[in-house]
Amino acid sequence: MDTLVIEGGRRLKGRARISGSKNAALPILFAAVLCEGSAALRNVPKLRDIATTLKLLRALGCEIEEREDEIVVSPKALVPAAPYDLVCTMRASVLCLGPLLARVGKAKVALPGGCAIGARPVDQHLKALEKLGARFSLEEGYILGECDRLTGARVTFDMPTVGGTENALMAAVLADGETVLENCAREPEISDLAKFLNACGAKIEGYGESVIRIQGVGSLRGATYEIMPDRIEAGTFMVAAGITRGELELENCPYDALEAVVAKLKLMGMDIRRADSGSVIASADAPLECVDARTEPYPGFPTDMQAQLMALLCVSRGTAVVEERIFENRFMHVQELLRMGADIRASGGTAVVRGVERLSGAPVMASDLRASASLVLAALAADGVTEISRIYHLDRGYEAIEKKLAAIGANIRRKQNKS
Ligand code: EPZ
Repeated sequence: MDTLVIEGGRRLKGRARISGSKNAALPILFAAVLCEGSAALRNVPKLRDIATTLKLLRALGCEIEEREDEIVVSPKALVPAAPYDLVCTMRASVLCLGPLLARVGKAKVALPGGCAIGARPVDQHLKALEKLGARFSLEEGYILGECDRLTGARVTFDMPTVGGTENALMAAVLADGETVLENCAREPEISDLAKFLNACGAKIEGYGESVIRIQGVGSLRGATYEIMPDRIEAGTFMVAAGITRGELELENCPYDALEAVVAKLKLMGMDIRRADSGSVIASADAPLECVDARTEPYPGFPTDMQAQLMALLCVSRGTAVVEERIFENRFMHVQELLRMGADIRASGGTAVVRGVERLSGAPVMASDLRASASLVLAALAADGVTEISRIYHLDRGYEAIEKKLAAIGANIRRKQNKS
């Protein structure tokens, strides 16, 4: 399996272009199943999870055309069954439930197994879809769903769930009558999904807020749509500028979707500002100060940036308390950072980070997507060489990260290992 070999100590300088958002592209690709025509999606990032989704869409009976700058999805004779071998590699496959029920009244989707960062149940997805008229049973590890025509209803989530909100939204657009979704997640990727659906003729209001209203329509046409930039990739590159005391100009950076992250990094002493070209410049030229952090649903500090921030805190001055409040097991980067000389004490969902002068390069192992990003960032700042194994985790969510980092001065290469 490939590894990444990074020699730390270089200040990053230059321009990096932020790719399309993985967490917007995934639901929008599944939403294309709802359309009677073809959907042409632009700025789709080239990632493992996208490749998995395209495979799944083909298995569901969609024609996929991968052009130079867009992916065209054309639902044909839909086969409403998502096989286990695809679902087990990507939990977001559960997002095909809502579209299949809305379009063909049936769905057979493998129950997503556990995940490194937590149990990640889908009870809220099923509860919302049942409110809209779906009936579910669980057989041999598969969720079997069916319904006549879905009927609009009032749905209140027990907690803000990104995927649950997305599944309910995609089902409601073709339901009979009005649906009101309450206690929705407010992540920008949900708004991107809603804008795509409205471009296809859906009638959705209030997205981005905790109450979303949908007037069901009879059918949706296809549309051409540009996926929003990836705010987590952008936040990761901001931290890369901070941890190497460099200066980066980030093109196509979704600054407005990063308020909590920008505020935190500025509080630590980074300089982050919009440039007149529409890019965002992030830099640090002095030691940064530790600040506490707590992950919250949007617009709070995103859980997907917790591991990356922790890497920065490891080499900042002072002490910080980091609370992970969204997922129950999202500190797997801690053990690996300790191998590099970090001073972290984690217990339950709380970690106390004491900044150290320098980290030292070491062989480390990636465990999940954002933990891998944290190790890359730590390696960029560490003395000596770090070799990161299991980087297939990283490839799920970062497009050509070693090429982007090398282009702005990092000493990084991907090593193919025969095994
Ligand atoms: C989405 O996952 C993202 N994935 C995650 O990004 C992100 O970390 C997460 O939202 C939170 O922002 C995609 O968009 C593809 P949730 P999702 O439902 O939808 C609990 C990454 O690194 N919950 O908002 O699965 C759940 O256990 C990935 O790109 C239930 O209890 O997250 C968690 O504690 C990792 N029952 C909380 O809600 C449910 O039915 C938030 O989960 C659903 C969720």
